[in-house]
Amino acid sequence: MRKFSFFIIFALLLISSSTSLKILVYSPLYAASHTNFMARLADTLTESGHNVTFFTPIIDETRKNQLGVKLTKNVIKLEQDSKMKEKDVKIDDMMSIFWTMDVTSKNGHRILETLHQQAVLTCDNLFRSKEIIEKLRENQYDIGLAEPLMTCGLALFRHLNIEKTIITSSCVNYDILLPTLGEPVDTSYWPTMNSQVTEKMDFSDRLENFEMLNLMLKTFGSMFDDEAKTYRSHLGPNFPDWKTLIPEASLHFVNSIPFIDFPRPHLQKTIGIGGISVDFESVQSLESSGNLEFSKILEKRPKNMLISFGTLAKSSTMPENFKKNLLEVFKSQPNCTFIWKYESDDVEFAEGVENLEFVKWAPQMELLSEFWNFQKLTHPENWKNKKLRFFEFLGERIPIFADQSRNANMLARHGMSIVLHKKDLGNFEKLREAFSETLNNENYRKNAEKIAEIVKNQPIKPKDLVVKYVEFVGKFGPFPQMSPHSLKMSDFQRYNYDIYIYKFLVFIFPIFVILVIFRFFKSYFSVKIVPKNK
Ligand SMILES: *[C@@H]1O[C@H](CO)[C@@H](O)[C@H](O)[C@H]1NC(C)=O
Ligand SMILES: *[C@@H]1O[C@H](CO)[C@@H](O)[C@H](O)[C@H]1NC(C)=O
Repeated sequence: MRKFSFFIIFALLLISSSTSLKILVYSPLYAASHTNFMARLADTLTESGHNVTFFTPIIDETRKNQLGVKLTKNVIKLEQDSKMKEKDVKIDDMMSIFWTMDVTSKNGHRILETLHQQAVLTCDNLFRSKEIIEKLRENQYDIGLAEPLMTCGLALFRHLNIEKTIITSSCVNYDILLPTLGEPVDTSYWPTMNSQVTEKMDFSDRLENFEMLNLMLKTFGSMFDDEAKTYRSHLGPNFPDWKTLIPEASLHFVNSIPFIDFPRPHLQKTIGIGGISVDFESVQSLESSGNLEFSKILEKRPKNMLISFGTLAKSSTMPENFKKNLLEVFKSQPNCTFIWKYESDDVEFAEGVENLEFVKWAPQMELLSEFWNFQKLTHPENWKNKKLRFFEFLGERIPIFADQSRNANMLARHGMSIVLHKKDLGNFEKLREAFSETLNNENYRKNAEKIAEIVKNQPIKPKDLVVKYVEFVGKFGPFPQMSPHSLKMSDFQRYNYDIYIYKFLVFIFPIFVILVIFRFFKSYFSVKIVPKNK
C-alpha cells in the first residue's frame, strides 16, 4: 500500500513537472495600467500551476511598491543603479500639460517624451546588471512574456536564449506593431490608438487618423531604435533589433474585447484577451474586503459618481478653472454623492460642497461589484430599498491622454457613455447637462449592464485563452510560420503599388497607341492636303 501511494505521488510529481512551464514575465514598473495587466497575466499563469517569475526593472521610483502581483511569489526587482538615479526622469513632471493640450497628429509625439528617455535609461541599467542577468539565465525559462511598449525585454529574452516569446499589449494594438508584425494597416475604418476620431470619419478625420498613425510609427520607431543602440552597446553591433525580435513572437495578446472593440482584420497570432483584468469571481463586496468607509459613503445619497482620470493624469494638477467648474456641477446634482479620486490633501478649494468626498485611492473592483450586485435586483421596488447605486468612471468620458479617447469612443458606440472634450471641463452648461443625462437617463445604465454581461459571459474566458495558448506555445512553439511573408517585401510590393502602376500603364497604353495612330494619320493627310491648297 505504501509503495503504491509512493508510486502515485511520484507519478503526479512527474506529470506536474513535465507540464509546468518556467515563465519569465518582463514588466517594467511604470504606469499602473501597464503593470497591473502584466501582473494579472503572471497571476493567471501561476494559478494554473506554472512557475512564473515576475521581473520588474524600476522605471519610476515613485511607483516602486505598486507591483500588482498577488499569487506570483518569485518577484525580482531591478533597482536603479547610481548611474540611472543621477538622471532621475519622472513622468509626473510633464503629465500636467495634457489637461489642456489637445493630442493630435501635430504634437502627439509629446506623449512619449519622458518614456523615451526612461526606456533608454532602463535598458542601459538592465544590461549593466550582469549578476541579475546571469541569475535569470540559470533558471532556463521556457517562455518569456513582454509588452513591446518598450523592446528591451525582447532583447533580454534573446540574450537569455528564450526562444518562445509572447508579446502583450495592455492597450489595444500599438500602432507600431501593425507594420512590424505584418498586420494590415487600414486607417480608413478604425481609429488608431492615440487618435481622437471615431469609426465614422469624413475626409479630414481620415487624414488626421492617417497622419497620427505615421507620427506614432516615427515616434515609437525612434524610441525603439535608441533602445536598440543601447542594448547593442552591451551585446554587440550585430544583435538583432526590434524589427526582428517583435515578429519572432509566437503570439500577441491584446487587451481588446472582440464583441466591444472597433472591428478590424488581424493576423491569427493576435488574440484578444480583453476582460482579463477584471476577475469577476474573486471580487469581494466592500464590506467583506474591509472598506467600510466606502460603504458608508455610498449609503448617503441615492446616486454615486466616481470621479477618476486614471493613474497618470492627476486631478490635483488640473487647472483651477476646471476644478471650480466641477464643483459647481456637483452642487447642481444634490441627489448624487461625488467621490473624487484626488492625490493631495490640499482640498480647501472645495469647502462647503456637501455632496463631495475626496479619496486618495478607490477600491474600483469592489465598487464595481457593488454596482453589479445591485444590477441583480432588477425589480424597481428593490432599487428604492437598496438605494440606487450608480457609478460613473469619468476618465472614460473625458479622455485626457493616450488611448483614453479611443476607449471613450468605443464605449460611446454602445450607448453607454457621453464623450466630452477635455476643454468642456471648463464649460458649466455642457458638463451639467452630460452629468444630468447620465445620472437620470436609464438607457446608459441598461446599456452598461448589457456590456457588463457580455464581458462576463464571453464564450471563452480570457483566463482560459491565456493559459491554453501559453501552454500550447510551451509545447509546440515557436511558430515562425505564423509570420506573413509580406514582412520580407518592400513597401512597394507589400501595398501593391507596383500592381497599381502596372494596371495604370495597361489602361493608358491603348489610349496612347490610338493617339499615336491618330496623330500619324492626321499629319499624313495634312501633308497631302497642304500642297493642294498652295
Ligand atoms: C520555480 O523556479 C525557480 C527558479 O528557477 C526555482 O528556484 C523554484 O524551485 C521553482 N519552483 C518550483 C515549485 O518548481
Ligand atoms: C432629488 O430627489 C428628490 C426625492 O426623490 C426629488 O424630489 C428631487 O427633485 C431630486 N432633485 C434633483 C435636483 O433631481
